[in-house]
Order: sequence, then structure tokens, then C-alpha cells
Amino acid sequence: MRGYNLCVVLITALVLGQLDSTLAKLCLSCTSTAADANCLLNPNADGIATVECTGDCYTSTDGNGNLTRGCWDNQTACSGPSCSSCNTDKCNSNLLCQQCLGEAECAQTNVTDVKYNTVCSDGQFCVNRVNDGNSSVSRQCGTACAAGEAATTCSSCQTALCNAGLFPSTRQQCYNCTGTGCDAVAPSMIVGCSQTDAKCFTTGTSATNMTRGCTSATTEIKCAADSTDPSCLICDSGLCNTLTYQRDAGSCMVCDSCSEAQDATKATPCSQALYNQTIGCYTITTGSTVKRGCLNSLETECTAANSCTSCPTTGCNVAAEAFKCIACISNEINGCWDAIAPAKDSVVDCPSEVCYNGVWNGLAVRDCFSSASPLMQYQCNAAIEPYQCKTCKTSLCNDIKLNGASSLSQVGVVGLLMALLLALRSAL
Ligand SMILES: *[C@@H]1O[C@H](CO)[C@@H](O)[C@H](O)[C@H]1NC(C)=O
Ligand SMILES: *[C@@H]1O[C@H](CO)[C@@H](O)[C@H](O)[C@H]1NC(C)=O
Ligand SMILES: *[C@@H]1O[C@H](CO)[C@@H](O)[C@H](O)[C@H]1NC(C)=O
Ligand SMILES: *[C@@H]1O[C@H](CO)[C@@H](O)[C@H](O)[C@H]1NC(C)=O
Ligand SMILES: *[C@@H]1O[C@H](CO)[C@@H](O)[C@H](O)[C@H]1NC(C)=O
Ligand SMILES: *[C@@H]1O[C@H](CO)[C@@H](O)[C@H](O)[C@H]1NC(C)=O
Ligand SMILES: *[C@@H]1O[C@H](CO)[C@@H](O)[C@H](O)[C@H]1NC(C)=O
Repeated sequence: MRGYNLCVVLITALVLGQLDSTLAKLCLSCTSTAADANCLLNPNADGIATVECTGDCYTSTDGNGNLTRGCWDNQTACSGPSCSSCNTDKCNSNLLCQQCLGEAECAQTNVTDVKYNTVCSDGQFCVNRVNDGNSSVSRQCGTACAAGEAATTCSSCQTALCNAGLFPSTRQQCYNCTGTGCDAVAPSMIVGCSQTDAKCFTTGTSATNMTRGCTSATTEIKCAADSTDPSCLICDSGLCNTLTYQRDAGSCMVCDSCSEAQDATKATPCSQALYNQTIGCYTITTGSTVKRGCLNSLETECTAANSCTSCPTTGCNVAAEAFKCIACISNEINGCWDAIAPAKDSVVDCPSEVCYNGVWNGLAVRDCFSSASPLMQYQCNAAIEPYQCKTCKTSLCNDIKLNGASSLSQVGVVGLLMALLLALRSAL
């Protein structure tokens, strides 16, 4: 009995359904509003109203962001990009995508404007694709990306307006502005460059006349990626074109002839650096003359070709004085006994930072301690009397007057060996 009833109900439903489709069809019926986002974004959701239509169903967008789905009671079919009609039950669940074809703006982050909204036909995807040739981007309804196509070349998706946003996601972004208010950058100035391989640029003549943008821009004032114009500062990383017209350039040691050690507290403030100048300090060594200063006041470039070295931090071109010792032997250099000129001016670097002076073979000897022979080092450390040897640990400290009278000049090599034996014995 129950089975029979169910059968009748089903057959009735089938007959009624067939009648329905010959006379009328069901179409989704809604208008997108803030309160009903489903009409726009999720037309297959439960609860979307339907309406019986004698003609076709349609989906259309009006250029103001309004989307309408309903009956198309018209002889001529409606067609894209703002409208699509169809003729099966609830067929007007068309996907909405962004359409923007190869224009500079199509590549930007902000392709969210409702003016780009377009209605796709049944089965289409939202697609973003980099155009061959000019690296511009086209966004539109279409077929899905081919399997294996690079994500940097093509992306496709099937939810409403899913092809908005930066594409490809690695696209260069730069600050874009001109005129007053362009000296300091702000997030509202961010654009994606029209070409995927663009760089960012900064140029201008004053704090109120700066221009920033992508090298792929088509605007009046721009710098090309390969520009040699010195007023064009080109950089090649995301949002890198931020430098203000002028900026503080720190301090440096500034002097024309200063090979000697510098007092780091005496660094001189540099003049303000322009956006296209590098900040830092330089040291130029020409023969024995050393010149120091601020990189941004150097007229030439600082390169090895002009014996220039640079460093990036404030006061960094200070010379730390190398540890030195007087180095002389009295039979070669006058003044070695008393450590007076010219012996006094005969100096060597001494990284081990210990100097010595003493008397060997009747000769005054001064040098860096690590240059002395092991025997001499032993004799010195053991403070064996005739050698008068003293070590010291400040730069150029080995200037003690040595006494020639008590030298071992008459003792000779045999005497030296005797002394060594004695010294060894006393050490044991
Ligand atoms: C269409 O959009 C505009 C602006 O967003 C709005 O003022 C208007 O009421 C909308 N029209 C309909 C029919 O929803
Ligand atoms: C019917 O279509 C024509 C053009 O195809 C259009 O101008 C007209 O507004 C449409 N009528 C309705 C009721 O949508
Ligand atoms: C780039 O090329 C596409 C076609 O490949 C064209 O539609 C578009 O207008 C071009 N865009 C620019 C900015 O030249
Ligand atoms: C950059 O700004 C200029 C106006 O200053 C505008 O004409 C241009 O379209 C902008 N470029 C991009 C990529 O938005
Ligand atoms: C995005 O586009 C809208 C409409 O063109 C504009 O008002 C808004 O300032 C843009 N937002 C950004 C971050 O560029
Ligand atoms: C502003 O800068 C541009 C170059 O970026 C230059 O051509 C123009 O003459 C400058 N305008 C003024 C008023 O200095
Ligand atoms: C910086 O730009 C100015 C013009 O704005 C130019 O005269 C100068 O040579 C440039 N400086 C450098 C270091 O390129």
C-alpha cells in the first residue's frame, strides 16, 4: 500500500515536472546587495530565490558592481562581457571574474574595481595570463590553464572574482607618485608594474618635485631600466624606490693629508646626501698621502682605480694605528744606540705587539720581538745581564738608551756561547 502511494506521488511529480519545463523554467532570481553576497559569490547556495520564466535565464552585471540573475524575457540572447543567458533550469549561476586585457593597470595589485567585473559563460574559469611579447597581463573568463603551465605564466580558478590581486605573485611592485607629497612614500602609492621584469625608479629635482614608479611606466616622466641618466636612480627589489630627495649622511673623518691614526670622536658631519648618492666614508691613498671624507662629497666614484676604499657606517674611515717598533742595528743605522734620528724613524709593523731593544755582538739592536731569533728571545726573557735586553708592550716603546761600553764586542762568539752555557745552567 505504501509502495503504491509513493509510486503515484513520484509519477505525478515527474509529469508535473515535464509540464513545467515545456511551459516555463526555473531561473535563479536575485540581485547582489551587501546583505545578499551569495547572489554574487555563491549562487548555488541553498536559499537563493528562484523564479519561473517563460524565456531564458540570465546573469548580468551593470558596471557598478551590481549583479542580477533572473528571467531574460527577450527575443535576442544576451551576451558578454556584462551579460550571459541560458535556457536550462537554474543555469544562470554564472561565475563572475575580472576582465582586464593587457593594459598597464591589469597587472596591479588593485584590480578589484567593479568596472572590471565580467560574467562568464557556463563552465568557464577565471584566468590570469602573462601575455607573450610585452609581459603584460590579461585577466578574463576562459579555459583553465594547461596542465604543467608555470604558475608565473598562468593561473585559473573557479570562485567569484578569484582572479583579482597581484599576478604573477612575484611581480615587481614599486611606489608610484609624482610632485608634492612624493618625497615620503606611503602604502597607497604601491603599484604592481605593468611588465613582470620591470625595476623601480626614483628621480626628481627637489623634495616637492620627485617622481617614482616602475621602469615599465608609460607616463611622461620616467626612467628606463637601462637608463644612464645620473638623475635616475634604478633599483631592482620590491618597493625599493623609497629614498627621499635629501637624507642625513652621517659623519666621517674629513682631512686632506692624514695617514696617521684618527680620533674617532672627531668625525665631521657630512652634508645631506641626495637620493642618488651613496652614503658612507672614503679613504684615498695616493703614494704616502691619505685623504679622507664623506662619499657624497667625493666628485669621482670611489673605486680601486683611484685607490679609493669606502665603508658604509658613520665615522668608519678612521685609521686605527698599527702597533709599531723601532727597528735598527747600530752598524747599519746611526742613532740606534740612543734611539734618535734616523734610527728613531726606522719603524716596522709588529702585529705581536711586543718590541725589544738590547746589545748583541757589540751592536745595539731594536726590533719587533717576534723577529728576534729563538736564542735572542731566550737571552732576553732570561734577562742575561750583558745583553741589556728589555721587552715592552706599547707601540714604539723600544727607545731605551743602550750602553755601548758594557757591550760584549770583545767577547766574540766563544764568549757568547760561554754565556749561553752559563745561562742555561742557571736556568736548570
Ligand atoms: C547598483 O549599485 C549602485 C552603486 O553601488 C547602487 O547605488 C544601486 O542601488 C544599485 N542598484 C541596484 C538595483 O541594486
Ligand atoms: C532586450 O534586448 C535588447 C537588446 O538585445 C535590449 O536593448 C533590451 O533592453 C532588452 N529588453 C529587456 C526587457 O531586457
Ligand atoms: C600587450 O600585448 C597584448 C597582447 O599580447 C595587448 O593586448 C596589450 O595591449 C599590450 N599592452 C601594452 C601595455 O602594450
Ligand atoms: C603611476 O602614477 C601615474 C600618475 O602619477 C599614473 O599615470 C600611472 O598610471 C601610475 N602607474 C601605475 C602603474 O599605476
Ligand atoms: C583601488 O582602486 C580604487 C578604485 O579605483 C581606489 O579608490 C583605491 O584607492 C585603490 N586602492 C589602492 C590601494 O590603490
Ligand atoms: C621636476 O622634475 C622633472 C624631472 O624629474 C623636471 O623635468 C622638471 O623640470 C622639474 N620641475 C621643476 C619645477 O623643477
Ligand atoms: C644626482 O642627480 C643630479 C640631478 O638630479 C645629478 O646632477 C647628479 O650628477 C646625480 N648624482 C649622481 C651621483 O649620480
